[in-house]
Amino acid sequence: MNLMVFGAPGAGKGTQAKFLTERYNIPQISTGDILRAAIADETAMGMEAKKYMDAGKLVPDSTIIGIIQDRLAQDDCANGFVLDGFPRTLKQAQALQKLLDDSGKKLDKVLSFDVPDSQIIERIAGRRVCPKCGASFHVQFNPPKKEDVCDYCGDALIIRKDDNVDTVKNRLEAYHAQTAPLIDFYKDLGIFAPIDGAQELHLVTKDMFEALV
Ligand code: AP5
Repeated sequence: MNLMVFGAPGAGKGTQAKFLTERYNIPQISTGDILRAAIADETAMGMEAKKYMDAGKLVPDSTIIGIIQDRLAQDDCANGFVLDGFPRTLKQAQALQKLLDDSGKKLDKVLSFDVPDSQIIERIAGRRVCPKCGASFHVQFNPPKKEDVCDYCGDALIIRKDDNVDTVKNRLEAYHAQTAPLIDFYKDLGIFAPIDGAQELHLVTKDMFEALV
């Protein structure tokens, strides 16, 4: 199953992608997580990307497309994958189509979580993330079993550097201007599945799996 989770920052893409990876035994490919790992490793690409991420702007297409090209070529993607946070521009979407065409693959479904901006701010303000496995929690709406400890790998949870009010506003602006237009791109391909992402978490999960039946 080749899937994509789509939506604004904080819409719940990463949270729901984890459930998809567990059910279908396919990897989650989060460009945000890959970029944060490159920053932690202090690679040249990571240091360049950091400037954009700290400002809440999109990292240049050429960097992101190169990352995805390498990642999709890895063996664990042979039986499927969940794209999380990619594509975010028309150029990235077109590059993905070409990559998939060239390898005889296709996207099965784009699962799109619709959440109003006011709710996004609330979600991001209470988010805690695992720096090791990328899992995402919320102090109120999705607390970990043990305070500030990741349910999946046991690492200490942190607050992401770009989860501050000013950066979130910029990320939302970038979403509406550059990423939301992709909705029509995937509607035209007939694989777009809109989901009410503003519901309680378990209801969003339920609707997501129903969209895949
Ligand atoms: P990235 O890491 O992809 O961040 P994002 O898209 O901004 O998405 P988030 O991770 O913030 O949100 P999410 O939708 O995964 O929500 P989550 O599940 O955590 O990108 C970061 C940066 O990297 C970008 O700004 C850009 O600079 C760069 N970048 C990455 N990819 C790029 C690309 N392709 N091109 C260019 N640049 C790129 O949920 C949020 C919170 O809500 C959590 O606390 C969660 O527990 C809670 N929650 C989830 N669902 C619910 C629910 N139903 N009810 C209540 N709370 C909920």
